[in-house]
Amino acid sequence: MCGIIGLTGDGGALDAILDGLRRLEYRGYDSAGVALADGGALWRERAAGGSHSVADLAAATAGAPPSRAGIGHTRWATHGSPTVANAHPHLDCSGRIALVHNGIIENHAALAASLAARGHVFTSETDTEVLVHLLEEELAGGAGLGDAMRATLRTVRGAFSVVALAASDPELIVAGRRSVPLLAAFGGGVGFVASDVSALLGRADRYYALEDDQVAEVRPGRLRVTDDEGREVVPTAVTVDPSWDVVAAQKGGFDDFMSKELHEQPRAVADTLLDRRGADGSIVLDELRLSPYDLRGVDKLVLVACGSSFHAGMVAKYAVERWARLPAEVEIASELRYREHVLHERTLVVGVSQSGETLDTLEALREARRAGARTVVVSNVVHSTMAREADGAVYTRAGPEVSVASTKCHLAQIVALQVLALALAQWRGTMGPAAIASVLDEMQRLPGAVADALSRKKEVDEVADALGDARDFFFIGRNLGYPVALEGALKLKEISYLRAEGYPAGELKHGPLALVEPGTVVVAVLDPLRDKMRSNVAEAAARGATVVSVAADGDRNAVGDHVLRVPTVADPVLAPVVEVVPLQLLAYSLARRLGNDVDRPRNLAKTVTVE
Ligand code: G6P
Repeated sequence: MCGIIGLTGDGGALDAILDGLRRLEYRGYDSAGVALADGGALWRERAAGGSHSVADLAAATAGAPPSRAGIGHTRWATHGSPTVANAHPHLDCSGRIALVHNGIIENHAALAASLAARGHVFTSETDTEVLVHLLEEELAGGAGLGDAMRATLRTVRGAFSVVALAASDPELIVAGRRSVPLLAAFGGGVGFVASDVSALLGRADRYYALEDDQVAEVRPGRLRVTDDEGREVVPTAVTVDPSWDVVAAQKGGFDDFMSKELHEQPRAVADTLLDRRGADGSIVLDELRLSPYDLRGVDKLVLVACGSSFHAGMVAKYAVERWARLPAEVEIASELRYREHVLHERTLVVGVSQSGETLDTLEALREARRAGARTVVVSNVVHSTMAREADGAVYTRAGPEVSVASTKCHLAQIVALQVLALALAQWRGTMGPAAIASVLDEMQRLPGAVADALSRKKEVDEVADALGDARDFFFIGRNLGYPVALEGALKLKEISYLRAEGYPAGELKHGPLALVEPGTVVVAVLDPLRDKMRSNVAEAAARGATVVSVAADGDRNAVGDHVLRVPTVADPVLAPVVEVVPLQLLAYSLARRLGNDVDRPRNLAKTVTVE
């Protein structure tokens, strides 16, 4: 997720762009840049200053020429590290076209190869840069920037919003999108495009949402929107809530970041899956930087993580064992560090960390490297310390997560790890191309299934109402349902402060059952061992527990006082991605009923850099 702003017709273009970028920083901030129309040329400046890139950019633009049009970008890196060279805007070979992009271009490698063969010179490692060279070819062929954008977007696959500016027509800003939001707007005679309203509050008073595959040509006071065939269409006007301030707008109409991030989960899963299949159908993990040759002697995989990331690792253990037939262990990072572990050059250690900075996980990975193991990190932050130090990385592409309780990053971690497990299966020859393709096809259905699960919030709210003032919760599950239960319990305790413990359902009778009495709530994840789970549920119900179960739509015999239904997922290894959603919603609902600040729970921190 990145932030984009473009404007035309404002004598103070640079100030307005920098102001917009500051407000878009919540979408990413590892680098930033601006391009301005400068007479018949373009002027560009970029900065990559970690969390203060926009401030660095503002300082670096002190000598900018006066300009009435420009585009700006604040980046959350997905392809290529957050360096100045990778920062947007990107320029074509002539330096006369500038482009900013948010999203992922799936077929960038093939496009880059053919552009390079035609003589284009690339200056970044991004997937973005192909777009500006494609525009260059279209303009050289005589197209205007609008037609050039349409033709370019027809050749690319992926999810994206893009905005371009060309020296040849300096009053024109051209934008296009697919699956990623982008607004056009006006305030007085000034025309704008932006990723979201927060960038434009106080400047614009008329807003239009671009639809998929539409192209907007914005000039001062003029908007022309066309569809993918070039036919002019009526732009979709949107009303902006007059009470919104910048923070409210950043929440996009949701009450808090947590609910916004919950609803971003289908996108986070879809983006994490983009770009993982090569032209021949095999799995490609660009930044893994490990080949089948490197992994030929690996005889054990160890996942290390903390918190929700640990639970994602637990889900992955099942996938690695089932698909790659490789022994897999999951370790709490703070425990691995001080154990007399048996790690060596035949061990592959996978750190799972949203932030890539959690000290315990970082030190566990360092420990593994010292022992000679190869290390891979699954992280949401491309420039994080873990990502820099590990031998390889698989990035989740969830965009920044603001709420302390992890939601969209957790789901993205699970699917990223599952793709890694498939890659291991491919290299070890434990699954053939057809079997891998079939799992990947099933994974493509996950974003829709997650959206479906989220759409059932009302049913979850009703269960939360029915639970009234319950204070004690046990979450139970077996097999792949066990990490889902652990994550459900963690979410609930984090934000509601209610006592919630997760257990393997078979362990209930070995202790926790002594605590079950009328008023205790037992949340049971029924799949994948639903028959076995039925007896565990009966054990709890017999002691007076109120049972809430999570069951697939297809489960006709679901037990429980309340049943939270989720869409059926054909492959049980993938089902946790969907099953965790009602438990996130339940935690959210109960926490809101208690009046808690769900984004900033007491005593907790988003990134924990202490032992
Ligand atoms: C903190 C956060 C959790 C997170 C855990 C691990 O406790 O509050 O949401 O799961 O750290 O963080 P990481 O960045 O390593 O995934």
